[in-house]
Amino acid sequence: MNKTHNIQSDMKTLWNGAAGNAWVESQSLLDQMFKPIEQALVKAAIDSGASNVLDIGCGAGTTTLTCSRALGEQGKLTGLDISAPLIEAAKLQAKKTKSLAQFVCADAQEYTFASNAFDLIISRFGVMFFSDPVVAFTNLHKAANEEARLHMYAWRHPGENGFMTTAMRAAAPFLPPMPKPEPNTAGQFGFADPDYVMSVLEEAGWKDAKLEKVDFLCSFPAEQIEQYNTRLGVLGTLLPELDENVRNKIISVVNTAFDKFISADRAQFTAACWKITARA
Ligand SMILES: C[S@@+](CC[C@H](N)C(=O)[O-])C[C@H]1O[C@@H](n2cnc3c(N)ncnc32)[C@H](O)[C@@H]1O
Repeated sequence: MNKTHNIQSDMKTLWNGAAGNAWVESQSLLDQMFKPIEQALVKAAIDSGASNVLDIGCGAGTTTLTCSRALGEQGKLTGLDISAPLIEAAKLQAKKTKSLAQFVCADAQEYTFASNAFDLIISRFGVMFFSDPVVAFTNLHKAANEEARLHMYAWRHPGENGFMTTAMRAAAPFLPPMPKPEPNTAGQFGFADPDYVMSVLEEAGWKDAKLEKVDFLCSFPAEQIEQYNTRLGVLGTLLPELDENVRNKIISVVNTAFDKFISADRAQFTAACWKITARA
């Protein structure tokens, strides 16, 4: 197996195991937190006049379902995700809300989409986990029709996203040394480098690719901070494997480290994002 295959099978395992389950469990917290990004994508869908929209790495489907509601009968929405537990949650929500949105459990990098099918492809933090982003975006380009647009959000550099890095930094003294993630590889910050993202999109056939800095003010009830910092991300995956004393020490230290983000009864932070757009 080459390195690309390893990363892809690791990502598939991660999102079908610990990370996928943690996202299902924390769905309402994550949806509150990332509401401003959902609203930006809904506006993009309405403004584009699109009628066939694909949501890549749709997770539990909230963005897909909200766009579907906003576009009404003129809009056909498809959410695609590699994670079976997240797609199951999305389908359940679609059934509950009588939504016509469709959900597919598949790898966006390999899935055989209908050719020229979509006129808008959106994503909220769902495109940074491909082992070979050029292959993935070439596949998405084939699925897009001639007039299609991309409109996606990804994280900028970790140094600009303190809320996303505080848990691991606070916990580091109690954990074995971790390898530093290589730049421009699959992961939360895999699309942080704008030159890299531009080169991926150009190589995959997308035109007029543009990255714009957008800062979103995100918040959620302060009482959910421990769920956020101990269930999600790398720390959320590591904690269950640790000795109880070490785990409790880490939870206490990490909670204290997040005090600076609490104001009144809300946890608040700025999400430093790239708005990534392109046309087919
Ligand atoms: C950070 S989550 C974002 C989920 C959702 N967009 C949201 O905002 O709630 C990233 C998502 O990308 C999905 N993902 C990762 N690799 C993928 C792939 N190769 N194909 C499709 N989805 C993928 C994960 O399963 C996960 O649901």
